[in-house]
Amino acid sequence: MENPFKYGGVVRGPYFADRTSEIKELKREMLSLNRVFLVSPRRFGKTCLLLNLSEMLKREAMACVYIDLNAFPDLKSFATAVTGFTAGALETNKDRLLKMFAGFHMLRPKVSLDQAGNISAGLELAVAEKDALSALLEGLHHAENLAARKKKKLVIIIDEFSDLEKFNGHTIEKALRSEIQTQTHIGYIFSGSEQSVMLAMARDRARAFYKLGRIMELGPIPQKTYAAFIQRWLKKGGYIVNQSDLERIFKIGNDVPYNIQRLCNVMWDVAMETKIIEPALIEKLPLMVARQDSAHYEMLWRSASQPQKILMIALSRDQSAKPFSKEFQLTHGIGPSSSIKASLDSLLKKGILYKTLQGAYRFTDGFMPYWIGDILKTIR
Ligand SMILES: Nc1ncnc2c1ncn2[C@@H]1O[C@H](COP(=O)(O)OP(=O)(O)OP(=O)(O)O)[C@@H](O)[C@H]1O
Ligand SMILES: [Mg+2]
Repeated sequence: MENPFKYGGVVRGPYFADRTSEIKELKREMLSLNRVFLVSPRRFGKTCLLLNLSEMLKREAMACVYIDLNAFPDLKSFATAVTGFTAGALETNKDRLLKMFAGFHMLRPKVSLDQAGNISAGLELAVAEKDALSALLEGLHHAENLAARKKKKLVIIIDEFSDLEKFNGHTIEKALRSEIQTQTHIGYIFSGSEQSVMLAMARDRARAFYKLGRIMELGPIPQKTYAAFIQRWLKKGGYIVNQSDLERIFKIGNDVPYNIQRLCNVMWDVAMETKIIEPALIEKLPLMVARQDSAHYEMLWRSASQPQKILMIALSRDQSAKPFSKEFQLTHGIGPSSSIKASLDSLLKKGILYKTLQGAYRFTDGFMPYWIGDILKTIR
């Protein structure tokens, strides 16, 4: 039997745990064509949730497109994708699609023949980057009209939405808001893990997206249902584990779905022979996961300066610490604050650390502290 605890990509079907209440809520919001900002720290499962939701909406005869903003280097390519995907979701007839594309002002159709001689219609921008915003608005305007004509509800999901800032975000936000506000056939989900950026976008009075929609903070998967999911798979595989021992996994993984999947994935592999999972084994799991990723950590480690390394060591021992406190600096023999600030900024920029909404600094990858602990043992 293959390992049922998947990670690193989109988890679907029987491998996708719970999220029933979130899906239900998002479905309700989208049926009413509302706008929702979906926010969580990294690796909580936004992308998995959205792609699973998208499949469900399509099964219920809604048109739905998923767009990862991160995949587009410039506004031009994003505008093309929005226009092409939304038109394709609402109109499946190729000829009608081509005819429609020919009527665009900012975009022109690109027709290609595949090996079987089938025509496929794509879109290519005929305008400069400076006109990309008009093209995006034209595409959205068109999607609204088409949805109205087809009497269909359209859902547009934009993932990694906090990346909008990279395309001169404020101007785009303003233009998007006025377009979106006139629409009556499209619901939106904007999703992102840069929590402070997302929250500022939706909560800051000075911003165009202020109160455009509700904020939905995606939390961890409730332990009870996640544990039942894990137990079900373990039982299927013939494994034996105590429910109370399993609870340790949630603690070690900090309730982050990605971490839980990684821990369960190695647990499945190492207990393959004996099928018995004991507390001592569970305690060893995070280091096993960390060792699987050692090449990656080594690269990050080598790219860090000496003060950054010292700070990472200190934080790996004490993640709830306040780096600017006297106590932290005395305990770990580091400082002054100005040098700690420079190191923190650099580690944040590299994505090794992230800052929580409460102002604490955490490792983006929860297994990295275990790897740091491991190399310190060999140095000593
Ligand atoms: N409901 C779930 N069931 C099982 N595994 C899940 C679930 N949600 C998330 N995961 C695990 O977490 C990993 C990361 O999920 P995903 O990429 O959806 O998170 P994300 O919030 O979009 O992260 P990022 O902010 O980095 O884009 C998945 O590859 C999967 O292993
Ligand atoms: Mg994601």
